[in-house]
Amino acid sequence: MTTRPEIDVSKYPYLQNNYAPVLEEYSFDEGEGGLRVEGEIPEALVGAFMRNGPNIAWQPNHYVYPADGDGMVHAVYFKDGRVHYRNRWVRTEGFKVEEKLGRSCYGSVGKIYMPDEETLAAGGPPSPLKNLANTNIVYHGDKLMALWEVGNAYELNSDLSTVGEWDYDGAIKPGDGLTAHPKICGRTGQLVTCTQRWDAPFYTLRIMDKSGKQILEKPIDMPDRAVMHDLQICGDYVVIFYPPAFTNLEAGMTGGDPFIWNGDDNTRICAIPRDGGEPIWFEKSTFFSWHFTNGFQSGDKLYVDYVWMATPPFGLDPNSGRESQLRNMHRMTLNLKTGEVTDEKLGPTYCEFGRADDRLCGLQYQYGFAAASDAESFEGPNHGYNGVIRYNMDNGDSQFWDYGEGTSAGEPVHVPNPNSEKEEDGFLMAYVTHPEEGSFISIMSAGDLQRGPLAKVFIPSRVPNGFHANWMQGLTL
Ligand SMILES: [Fe+2]
Repeated sequence: MTTRPEIDVSKYPYLQNNYAPVLEEYSFDEGEGGLRVEGEIPEALVGAFMRNGPNIAWQPNHYVYPADGDGMVHAVYFKDGRVHYRNRWVRTEGFKVEEKLGRSCYGSVGKIYMPDEETLAAGGPPSPLKNLANTNIVYHGDKLMALWEVGNAYELNSDLSTVGEWDYDGAIKPGDGLTAHPKICGRTGQLVTCTQRWDAPFYTLRIMDKSGKQILEKPIDMPDRAVMHDLQICGDYVVIFYPPAFTNLEAGMTGGDPFIWNGDDNTRICAIPRDGGEPIWFEKSTFFSWHFTNGFQSGDKLYVDYVWMATPPFGLDPNSGRESQLRNMHRMTLNLKTGEVTDEKLGPTYCEFGRADDRLCGLQYQYGFAAASDAESFEGPNHGYNGVIRYNMDNGDSQFWDYGEGTSAGEPVHVPNPNSEKEEDGFLMAYVTHPEEGSFISIMSAGDLQRGPLAKVFIPSRVPNGFHANWMQGLTL
C-alpha cells in the first residue's frame, strides 16, 4: 500500500466531501476488517463491477470539475458467491513521472502550461495536458481499457495493474484523441468509437470488430472542434451532438478561458451511416448534453435518448458551480427522410448518466436508468444524486429509489441476468456513498426498483464520486 502526503483541498469546491480523493490503494476480501455483505448476492453474477473517476494524487495548483484528476479505478469482483475489492490509480506516463518526482508536474484544464525541464528530463510526455485516463473503463476485444476524453486508451490487467497505452495496433495515430465513450453494438459486438484532433479533420468515426481490429475509419467534415463527449449507436447509424461549445487551447495557455459557448447558435445533430456513407445533419434549438442513454432505428426514424441540459455545466472558475443546472431525460426523434426533429422530455426529475441494458445497445429497448435526485435544495457546488430513476421509455412511467438524504449515488449500470434475456430480470449496480453507512455497491432488481437493494457490499474505505462504471462479464481476479 502506498501512503501519500496530505493534500490541501480547501480551495477547491469539487474536492470537498465525497469529491475528495482517497490517497491509498487498498485490496479487501470479505470478513473482519474487509468487505461486509448485507442481503443476498445473486449467484449468477460472475465478473467485476468497475468504475473510473478523477482522484488527484498530488497537490494541484488548480482544479476544474469535471476535467481534472488522475484516473482511479475501483473494482468489486464477484466469483463463487464471494466478493473482493481493489482500487488503483491508472499509471499513465504522466502519472509515473509525478510519482517519481513526488509532485504535480502538469497543470489543470483551467490552467494549462507546458511541463518543466525536470519533468521532461524524467521522461514526462511533452504535452500541455496529461492523459488522465479518468473517465471510463471498458472491456472489449479481450482488453480492459481506462479511457479519457481525448487520449490513447490505457490497457489494464484484471487486477487493475497498468499495462500501458493501447493504440489499436497503430490504427490510432499520434494526435488522435480517442473518446472515453465508445459503444459496443448489441447486435454485432462491434465497438463504435471516434477520435478527435486539435487540428482538422477534427472528428473521425471508427469501428472496431469484436476482436478489436479496426474495420472503418471515416473522417467527418466539421467546421470546428466542438465539445462532443458521447456518441450513440442507433441501428445502422451513429448519432453525435455538435453543440456550439468549443475549446480554445491557446487561450487556456495564456490565462484565458479555454471554454467557448455560442449559446445563440443551434445545436447540430449528425447521423453517420455505419457503412461509411455520408453523414446527415439536423438542427435543433440550442442545448447541451454529456450523455446518451441509448438509441435505435425504426424504418426512417432514429430514436435518440439522452440527458438534456440548457448549457454546458463547466467553466474555468473552480467555484462556478454550474453543475447545479437542470438536466432531464429526453427522447429525440430524427426523420432521415424529411429532416424533421422532434424532442420530448420524459420527466421532470434531475438526472444524469443514463444507461440501458447493454445487450440492447443501438436496438429497441424499454427501460432507461439514471442517477437522479429528488432533493429540492442542495448544498455545495453540485446538485448530487441521492437516488436512481428508471424510465419506461415507451410511456415515460418512472420509478425512483431514494438512498437517503446526503447520499451520492453513482452511474447505475444494468447487469444482465445470464439466465434471462429480459431487461427486467437483470440487476442494477451502482457505487453509493451514504453519509452514515459509508461506501457500498448497491445491487437492485432492474425489474423493480421499489424493492430497494437486494444486496449491499460495504467497502471499508471511501469511494469518492466518479464518472463511468461498467460490468465486466466473466472478468475476475
Ligand atoms: Fe461521460
